[in-house]
Amino acid sequence: MTVAEDTPAAKSHKLWGGRFGAGPAAAFDALNNSIGVDFRLWPYDIRLSKAWALALWGANVLTLDESKAIERGLDAVGERLAGGEQPLPSDEDVHTLIDRLLHTEVGDVASKLHTGRSRNDQVATATRLWTMEACQRLDAAVRGLQQAMVDQATALESVLMPSYTHMQRAIPISAAHWMLSHFWPLERDRTRLRAAQHSAAVLPLGSGAVAGCAYPISRVLLQGTLGFDALSPNSVDAVSDRDFLAETLFASTMIATHLSRLAEDLIIYGSSEFGFVQFGEQYTSGSSMMPQKRNPDALELARGSAARTLGDLTALLVTLKGLPTSYNKDLQDDKRSLFDAVDLLLLVLPAVAGALAECVFRPARMREALSSAMMATDLADYLVRRGSTFREAHGAVGMLIRESEITGVDLQALPMVSFRAANARFADDVIDALSAAQSVRHREVEGGTGPDAVHAQLDAARGALLPPPTLRSTNAVV
Ligand code: ARG
Repeated sequence: MTVAEDTPAAKSHKLWGGRFGAGPAAAFDALNNSIGVDFRLWPYDIRLSKAWALALWGANVLTLDESKAIERGLDAVGERLAGGEQPLPSDEDVHTLIDRLLHTEVGDVASKLHTGRSRNDQVATATRLWTMEACQRLDAAVRGLQQAMVDQATALESVLMPSYTHMQRAIPISAAHWMLSHFWPLERDRTRLRAAQHSAAVLPLGSGAVAGCAYPISRVLLQGTLGFDALSPNSVDAVSDRDFLAETLFASTMIATHLSRLAEDLIIYGSSEFGFVQFGEQYTSGSSMMPQKRNPDALELARGSAARTLGDLTALLVTLKGLPTSYNKDLQDDKRSLFDAVDLLLLVLPAVAGALAECVFRPARMREALSSAMMATDLADYLVRRGSTFREAHGAVGMLIRESEITGVDLQALPMVSFRAANARFADDVIDALSAAQSVRHREVEGGTGPDAVHAQLDAARGALLPPPTLRSTNAVV
């Protein structure tokens, strides 16, 4: 782009401005400039610009020399930015910045690069490239936390603790079973991340501003060079489509939501009242006033972070709702939401992994929390095995629980006559049905808390963390 010296656009390097007499108001620039947010897209913008220079040569728009000069210039710009060169406040966005720097590297031939493309297909392409990598970085961070869970679960396999429903003691479970109940939601998140990455991997470049590029560039070649899975089938949709961002933000929000629930469990279990877990020193802080305090700040911040990612997702969805088809400037803020959520998770995930890894669980306290009333369901099952209907058994055990509550005597300490009065099928071996270990042993159903089932679950969790087997070509010469 050659900017005539006497036009206002010459003062700052702009990709537009020819048809404007006066320059933009400072208050407009302050609102309009997105360089503060999108600067980080520079490596992706350079990558796609190099591919575009090649595509323009293929379309006979550039000579080979021109295309090579632009590619070399873009490499030099990349080196300058990697070396710490910062944008000027007058750079409107990352695309304008790179265009300006390219002019300083290769002169006027730089003005030919923007042939047939628009920042509309450019920004969509760069954001997609960034998102494809972000999904992989998130996946690795999620795996880091899952590994900490598997390590803790391995140590907790034979430890028993109460399970809770409605935050009321329910039925004994293996503590590993509780730990892994937080593993599988993250495994589902990884599936969502893969799907989001796949949605991002559709190439918009070649769509121009909205109607498609007017030069015979090879989009297939661009797709291959840039590592996309597919080509966008409609240029109007291509510059408009932010579904991949909504999906990435939804996946991020679910991750943050899952972290918030893990954090909440740990915070409760770490209270003196529960005492199931002792927090370490590296992810907690002290109180400026109360010397005895060790506060689980990392976990609390993780719990709070779900609010922000949900806000980011909501902001994007509300922007998209009712937006006219194709590119509208409202879309510029999509990146603010995306970067905020991803940055946050990349901070929170390793911190939660670290906080969990340094947790010391206290099996004795977990065990103490197992009261014999928690075996009430097992007691009912005992009667069912001896011929009662479940309803009849439930009623009989209910009577025993009531007696235990009124007399203040533990279920297991009630006299045999009470058991017999509640249901004649009770015999001396009822005491076995009141053991937590026995209760757990009865639950060997797949996905249950029985020792073998938990062992198999742990194996499955370890398997999920293994790298996927590399695809071997069937006609490879061995
Ligand atoms: N900075 C813009 C964005 O992020 C680039 C696209 C601008 N397109 C335009 N027609 N003004 O969305």
